[in-house]
Amino acid sequence: MSFLSNIVESAPDPIVKLMDLYNADDRDGKINLGIGIYKDEDGRTPIFRCVKAAEERLLGKQETKEYVGVGGDLVFVDHVGKKIFKNASFTGIQGVGGSGALKVLAEFCKEVAPDSVFWIPNPTWGNHKVLFESSGLTCKQYTYKAITRDNLLEDAIDSLKDAKEGDFVVIHACCHNPTGIDFTPEQRQEFLNVVKEKKLVPFIDAAYLGFAGKFTEDAGIISDIADQFPVVMCAFSASKNFAVYRDRVGIPFVTGQDAAELKKAKGLMLKIARSIYSMPPDHGAAVLRMIFEDDALYSDWQVELDEARARIQRLRTGLCDNLEQLGFEKPVDHIRTGTGLFALLPVSVEAVTTMREKNGIYMMDNGRMNIAGLQERRLPETAQAMVSASQQRIAA
Ligand code: LMR
Repeated sequence: MSFLSNIVESAPDPIVKLMDLYNADDRDGKINLGIGIYKDEDGRTPIFRCVKAAEERLLGKQETKEYVGVGGDLVFVDHVGKKIFKNASFTGIQGVGGSGALKVLAEFCKEVAPDSVFWIPNPTWGNHKVLFESSGLTCKQYTYKAITRDNLLEDAIDSLKDAKEGDFVVIHACCHNPTGIDFTPEQRQEFLNVVKEKKLVPFIDAAYLGFAGKFTEDAGIISDIADQFPVVMCAFSASKNFAVYRDRVGIPFVTGQDAAELKKAKGLMLKIARSIYSMPPDHGAAVLRMIFEDDALYSDWQVELDEARARIQRLRTGLCDNLEQLGFEKPVDHIRTGTGLFALLPVSVEAVTTMREKNGIYMMDNGRMNIAGLQERRLPETAQAMVSASQQRIAA
């Protein structure tokens, strides 16, 4: 026996576990509503036209694979930062996907504010808690009762009552994961007023800019927050809105009011990056930089995002229409009115298991569906399977 016998078995991440289960299922016609990836009607995740065009140009002109640097492509970082923060001064480095950006910021907070609590919404993306706690940070939850927007604010504000000055409040910029329900602008402002009064620090997870509204509209939510606070942390992900999932492009940003502090903030991010992965991959960032620097590619990107958003909206409406016509037992209007990839289907774990085993429909145990995984032509049969599974639970 070696020291490896001390290993405590690690429970797999539920999202990744579901992805593996889906991949291992050899039934035709299975439907993947699991991991949050944009999909077309045929269940594929195509490379965006603008990305493909930029890649072709890049391949033609790239002459070296030399390291770019610990901070990656800082011109790309600047392009994104200027779109996101209209007035606030910011600094950032290129990270490794949205999760990599979150990790750099988590380590950053551990270094400069080790006793501050991370207030994460309940529910939130399953990996938030794991990621922050693995950096030695303490997480507490604030209520995010987002089945409808009615009670959202009241409970959320109430549950922050024990937050202390300097604690971080994790806010999903838009397309809340897993509910798909965001604060209205008025609710957001009221929430921010409390965050401000209590001198808390907004920590924004920006993984879906361009999926609720246009990219700059969604980015406007962040710039609005940044304009109101001395410091804001923001983890930007390009995985979804450029569909460059495997290329791992993300940016940890920090805003501030003092140039010397921002310079030190950047230095700390670089030190953290160097200690974890040394240098980020370049390909995705180099491609996206070309899109930001070319008006035609940038416009085409907007069109492609518009198309993705419109398809998701049609699927949301179509699924709800079908569920309602078939007499689904619970209200589902939140699926229709939500934005982004995710919505919660109000069903039991048993119903989720039945759908997976009997119908090959894969969703998270809490009923989280990746709406983009639905197929328009199959909505009636998919909705029927959902209704039947939920009724079976009642009968049992
Ligand atoms: C999700 O929530 O499914 C996405 O953010 C992808 C992931 O890595 O979990």
